[in-house]
Amino acid sequence: ASKIYVNSKAKTFKKLNCYSEIFQLDEDVSKERVISLIEKLNNDSLVHGILLQLPLPSHLDAYDFLSKINPLKDVDGFHPENLGLLFQGTPRFIPCTPLGCIEILEYYKIDVKSKHVVVIGRSNIVGKPIMSLLSQPFKKGNATVTICHSYTKDLSKYTMSADIIICAVGKPNLINGNMIKDGCIILDVGINRINDSSEKGYHIVGDVDYDSVIDKSHSITPVPGGVGPMTIS
Ligand code: GUN
Repeated sequence: ASKIYVNSKAKTFKKLNCYSEIFQLDEDVSKERVISLIEKLNNDSLVHGILLQLPLPSHLDAYDFLSKINPLKDVDGFHPENLGLLFQGTPRFIPCTPLGCIEILEYYKIDVKSKHVVVIGRSNIVGKPIMSLLSQPFKKGNATVTICHSYTKDLSKYTMSADIIICAVGKPNLINGNMIKDGCIILDVGINRINDSSEKGYHIVGDVDYDSVIDKSHSITPVPGGVGPMTIS
């Protein structure tokens, strides 16, 4: 998923005639090396935005680095200062995947006010910021938001009462047609690589069993081609 995103970001920058540079570090890179690269970019006046692609290898803690990025260059909105601003209702940079989801809801004129939105996944990248955005009194806000995660008992109990489901877990087929109510709107944020016998050797699916929900749901974002491109945008 990271490679797909990073390459798409670089391609989009090129298309827009903007400059971008990818620093691909070794998997066993030291904490000091990553911090020194971040500091170099923080101090480079020609660099206006820094994205640290997540997830990181298991020996590194994302917080150690995200908190070192200059908050004014933190276009991902993951620095504690930017997350804090979002959570107190005065956002500066909004994380791009949640923003892409909001854009989709706006474009299709899907009202969220007083609706029950079930967010599955509690990551800092998607789950927590989208919960914050949709529950606050913003233009696309004032929803009742339930956050589900790996310790949620009986996930169906929540998804069955959802007007809108936003699923960002990374588990193929986590949600199927028996778990949703008629007319549910689904944003599938999952990106999962499934190995197959095609020329490429794999295909990409989301977290939702698309075929089983397509007749029952009001609408669903496809994977690939749904939330992913909006995140890049
Ligand atoms: N990994 C998955 N989504 C994202 C994202 O939006 N930004 C970064 N930096 N890493 C990610």
